[in-house]
Amino acid sequence: MSSTNYQLHGSTAVITLDNPPVNGLGYDLRCGIVAGIDQATADPAVKAVVLIGSDRAFSGGADIREFGSPKSYAEPNLLTVIRIVEACPKPVVAAIGGVCMGGGLELTLGCHFRVAIAGASIALPEIKLGLLPGAGGTQRMPRIVGVEAALNLILSGNPVPSEKFKGTPLFDEFIEGNGGDLLKGALAFADKVVAEKRPLKRIRDIRIDYPGQEAFFQFSRNMVKGVAGPFPAPFKCIDAVQAALTKPFDEGMKFERACFIELMGTPESRALRHAFTGERAASKIPDVPDDTPARKIARVGVIGAGTMGGGITMNFLNAGIPVTMLEMKQEALDKGIATIRKNYENSMKKGKLTQEKLDQRMGMLSGTLSYDDFKDADLIIEAVFEEISVKEAVFKQLDAIAKPGAILASNTSTLDVNKIANFTKRPQDVVGMHFFSPANVMKLLEVVRGAATAKDVMATVMQVAKKIKKTAVVSGVCDGFIGNRMIEHYGRVAGFLLEEGATPAQVDKALEKWGMAMGPFRMGDLAGNDIGWAIRKRRYVEKPSIRYAKFADKLCEQGRYGQKTGKGWYLYQPGNRKAIPDPEVDTMLEAYRKELGITPRKISDAEIVQRCIYALVNEGARILEEGIAARASDIDMIYLTGYGFPLHRGGPMLYADEVGLYNVARSMKEFAATSGDAFWEPAPLIAKRVADGKSLT
Ligand code: 3HC
Ligand code: NAI
Repeated sequence: MSSTNYQLHGSTAVITLDNPPVNGLGYDLRCGIVAGIDQATADPAVKAVVLIGSDRAFSGGADIREFGSPKSYAEPNLLTVIRIVEACPKPVVAAIGGVCMGGGLELTLGCHFRVAIAGASIALPEIKLGLLPGAGGTQRMPRIVGVEAALNLILSGNPVPSEKFKGTPLFDEFIEGNGGDLLKGALAFADKVVAEKRPLKRIRDIRIDYPGQEAFFQFSRNMVKGVAGPFPAPFKCIDAVQAALTKPFDEGMKFERACFIELMGTPESRALRHAFTGERAASKIPDVPDDTPARKIARVGVIGAGTMGGGITMNFLNAGIPVTMLEMKQEALDKGIATIRKNYENSMKKGKLTQEKLDQRMGMLSGTLSYDDFKDADLIIEAVFEEISVKEAVFKQLDAIAKPGAILASNTSTLDVNKIANFTKRPQDVVGMHFFSPANVMKLLEVVRGAATAKDVMATVMQVAKKIKKTAVVSGVCDGFIGNRMIEHYGRVAGFLLEEGATPAQVDKALEKWGMAMGPFRMGDLAGNDIGWAIRKRRYVEKPSIRYAKFADKLCEQGRYGQKTGKGWYLYQPGNRKAIPDPEVDTMLEAYRKELGITPRKISDAEIVQRCIYALVNEGARILEEGIAARASDIDMIYLTGYGFPLHRGGPMLYADEVGLYNVARSMKEFAATSGDAFWEPAPLIAKRVADGKSLT
């Protein structure tokens, strides 16, 4: 199947890249380009060639969907394609419009000339996938725009508007105008090149020199050291760009290739690529087609002006959507609105917001004590107390006043969304929108699909999520949904580690060193240990078969709720969030172990990490098997965007695959045998995937 069109315009052959959505340079497209160049070369009537993409994209680069498959390297691979384009005896002009990224930009660097249109977006984003430009970008870009500009592009990976390169040798001509003018301009330019008999410009032949390069590269390496973290790609990018100066072109290309292949095989790159595709996959719901008509969301209502209600409201104001916030008492309403204003004022002090923007946003916010003011709302989200009777009263009132078709959402973190939906006579319009605290900052939004939730409600909420810049992941209804259901077991296992001999600080440090943003005990202190306590008290009644280490309860009985009470697992100085290990907690722990007759043992950091992270994996696998999550990558997106899971490990499910599911299952069985905890029996899905030789992701 060809992914290009070939057409003659006078004496110029136009090869149009046609591989939606963004002209990823997949196998078919690569074959199409080579066939077009061959045809143009063979046709004596053809004097020049124009390569052009769609209005949306010249090309988004190598086809990410092909990565890891044999097709990705199949000849003609991208390097071969670029070599063939560069060797073409007739002038080849790249017409750059829309997105021109990665391998797409590298393809244009193999062309003899480049024309670009205003508003095009130029980038070498490979570093964001843990890679470096692997089709000559590190060798050709410094030759055409200079070493510093090239390294900036390569190390940041950020898109730059084409205007920024206007007047530089990157573009032989810059076309002001809109999409339709690009082809016209490129054809006119091709005619000019032919008429003037301009010699073909091959970037590979440009000689570059950069006095003081050693100092510059040393400086760059020092800069990168501070920001690269565990990722190897930034250093390789610098090495490869330096090779453009120190090696002849072909050797530089070989060096770049070797670095690219090395990076492609790193777990860090696999994790970043998994996160990239995972984020896009999460926005799709298998039985809700992309073209499902969405409901219009022009006005939003938020009930409850507390911690969550305020943050939720800010998301919509930031996106330019007016919000009416409802409270029970004027005082609470005033307080909620004042908090929002204060947050914006803080952003202004940090230079992140102008007074004008602040006024604009506050101008879109109104407060009310009456449900009547929700009559026009298209989406109403409640964030009231976490009690089913309170939710019942709220949803009954909403049912009575909301206009037909309005979406009624609950921010509940633990309650049954189906039950809540059934408080109304329109369960099809009810959905869970589980934001994470602070709701105006955290990227994650769990969208909880009730048994009756209509498909267009799901489509609408996913669209709204994009508008307010959240990573939305769909969860089925279950206790804790995806994220909190898993974290409960992580916390439970961490509790047993204390019983057996570890300290809170040791557990936290081990997990933080491994990459978690915060260990479980520091996290508990931040969120409030009373929240977990309330959940456990419920579990003791509802699910007496689940075992818990009871030490956390002892702590709560003493009012050690965490930061808010100045004491929890750690001590806190007033106004300071720094967790200080508390010898009193250690003494309490020792007494507790004695009470249970446990002789403490030395526990290694590796064991701490294994037990806590595999607890996430096992519960995640159950969630996947039950269909609560549609894909393993959805679970990983939740952990990457909502729970501080280290990006370079890609999420618990990918991590399990990296360790090897067989090894993970073996460790789980060991834990089951030593602890007697039925939880550790590997989830049936894990056992099955191990038996089939398959992975989770
Ligand atoms: N290959 C294949 N599909 C791609 C793609 C690519 N390189 N880039 C994006 N897509 C797909 C997405 O998966 C998505 O598909 P869907 O509609 O089925 O979900 C669709 O294009 C649209 O993507 P977005 O939702 O991200 O749309 P935006 O308009 O917001 O952004 C974009 C478009 C700027 C191209 C953005 O997708 C992006 O940054 N893509 C990554 C580009 C990239 O990293 N390229 C480098 C690849 S590595 C490389 O080229 C190696 C070379 O050096 C050898
Ligand atoms: P909060 O106590 O800070 O705020 C709740 C607000 O709702 C209070 O201002 C209260 O006056 C108001 N309220 C109570 N009943 C009301 C009613 N009938 N009508 C109007 N207003 C009413 O609580 P928070 O933390 O904001 O939690 C709200 C909801 O969000 C709960 O369901 C909670 O489980 C959920 N949630 C909380 C998270 C958190 O980290 N705090 C995270 C995710 C969800």
